[in-house]
Amino acid sequence: TERTLVLIKPDGVERGLTGEILRRIEAKGYIITELAKRQASPDQLAAHYAEHEGKPFYQPLVDFMLSGPIVAAVVEGDEVIKGFRSLAGATDPSTAAPGTIRGDLGRDWGEKVQKNLVHGSDSVDSAEREIGIWFS
Ligand code: GTP
Ligand code: MG
Repeated sequence: TERTLVLIKPDGVERGLTGEILRRIEAKGYIITELAKRQASPDQLAAHYAEHEGKPFYQPLVDFMLSGPIVAAVVEGDEVIKGFRSLAGATDPSTAAPGTIRGDLGRDWGEKVQKNLVHGSDSVDSAEREIGIWFS
């Protein structure tokens, strides 16, 4: 079994989609082992998005992630890292496939930041690193 870090971004929380997103995770058979609604801190976001520092969307992304509360979750299951990214869909909500969280519910396709509802870790190493940032 594997674990991943899921964030419901401020657009998802503000639009009242927390339940719908968690429902999809549970319906798939994954187990939510930690769950917390938080205001992110600049330090947490700098650590979380370190790989994107210097890219044009970095500062707008950090500002967006500070714009309201987020929901952080640790989710467990077989192949959950790949599996949750498959549930989430492509990064850009305007091209994410129907049936995915971003494809069904995402509305934004901004140039500077993509309000794409969720984050999911992309590898075992990043999952462990990110879980340490949000649940320590
Ligand atoms: P996460 O699950 O949030 O990590 O999404 P991802 O893995 O699909 O994307 P990535 O890690 O490459 O980028 C992190 C976040 O930065 C994305 O979810 C978007 O919100 C934003 N982002 C990434 N690439 C772009 C881009 O080319 N343009 C814009 N505007 N935003 C981007
Ligand atoms: Mg990513």
